[in-house]
Parts: sequence; structure tokens; C-alpha cells
Amino acid sequence: MAYRIAPSILSADFARLGEEVRAVQAAGADLIHFDVMDNHYVPNLTAGPLVCAALKPHATVPIDVHLMVKPVDRIIPEFAKAGANLISFHPEASEHVDRTLGLIRECGCRAGLVFNPATPLTVLDHTLGSLDLVLLMTVNPGFGGQQFIASVLPKIAEARRRIRECGRDVWLEVDGGVKADNIAEIARAGADTFVAGSAIFGSGDYAATIRDMRARLAVV
Ligand code: DX5
Ligand code: ZN
Repeated sequence: MAYRIAPSILSADFARLGEEVRAVQAAGADLIHFDVMDNHYVPNLTAGPLVCAALKPHATVPIDVHLMVKPVDRIIPEFAKAGANLISFHPEASEHVDRTLGLIRECGCRAGLVFNPATPLTVLDHTLGSLDLVLLMTVNPGFGGQQFIASVLPKIAEARRRIRECGRDVWLEVDGGVKADNIAEIARAGADTFVAGSAIFGSGDYAATIRDMRARLAVV
């Protein structure tokens, strides 16, 4: 299993974002997770395509844009132009999920769907064939530094089962409360891509933290 670590810049120093992106890449990040919050779909406000475009020249790994916005369609071409490589959204935030997935693809990006802790996986029945990424939230979206919701673990296993059955190379990403302490358990449930905000940016040594995560993944 190839595991990927995606530091969420939500917990980075926003006054030094370019430097922070370069620092986590040097520390071994596989993706840059870019959380977009609109103070409408979620009760917080972060950054839009302008900030993504400003970071793009600093990015040597793919930018993984997690849209927590409603509506979603209007902003997708903007993020594609701003250098996003993957774009994922919450099905609750789109009136026409299949159309939104098509739009992401048309813009040249890989497409993902995000499931809140209480959102069932039934949407996958009709979308998995056109997804590159399934993102399972293990906190309620809106803030970094929240507690991991362990009751989502069986849902991770169920998503892995569905991905295996469909036979396509779909990444299974987990977001919220991921730390070195629980990363092995999350991988055992079936995840292959791990978002970590506070665990990485809140640590003194990004490289040591990512190394610790990889060491724990190596023995899964
Ligand atoms: C929460 C965001 C997460 C957040 C995770 O809505 O989607 O990406 O940054 O932060 P931690 O890793 O601190 O839980
Ligand atoms: Zn996120």
C-alpha cells in the first residue's frame, strides 16, 4: 500500500504560508491539503483561489483542495486556474453532484467527494465510477485541532470495501484529528491518504512528525 501524507495548511502560520508550504514539502509531504471554508456551509472562513494561486509557485507536490463551500460550481474553474490538482466537495453542498464531478474533470482536475461523519456512503452507489478520491471526515468540518471521531472507523472499512470492489484506483483519504498515535489504526481500517493539520503544523519539527507517521505506517 502506498501511503500519502497531506499536511493541512489550515494549521500553518497564515502570515508565512509560502514558507510553510516549502517547509512541509521539505519535511516529506506528499500533497498540500488546502481547506476552503465560506462561513456558510461551515462556520469558518479561510482562503480562496487567490491564495491558492499565490502558493502554486511554491508547490512541488499536488494541491488537494477541500471545498467546504456552498454553492460549489462557480468556484471550481477558479481553483483549477489557481493550480489545484485535486478538488473535492461535500455532496450536500451541490444540487447536482454528477454535474459538479463532471465540471471538476472538465477543468482538468481529479475529483473527490467528501463525507461528513453522519453522511452515509450511499452517494457512492452512483458516483464511485467517476471518482478519483473519497474523503472521509473524522471530525465535523470547520476547524482544525478537533478530536478524532473513532466511530467513523467502520465507515472507512466500508469505503475501502467498495473501492476494492469497483476495481478502480480511487484514493481513500481521512481528514480530522489524524496524529501519529492513531494513524496506524486508520490505515488498518483502509485509508491510504492522511490529512493532518495541527499534528504537523503544531509540532516543533515537521520532518520528525512526518517521519514518525511513516514509521507507524510501515508496520501496518
Ligand atoms: C477541517 C478540515 C481539516 C483540518 C484538519 O474541517 O477539513 O483539513 O485542517 O485539522 P486537524 O488535523 O488539526 O484535525
Ligand atoms: Zn480538509
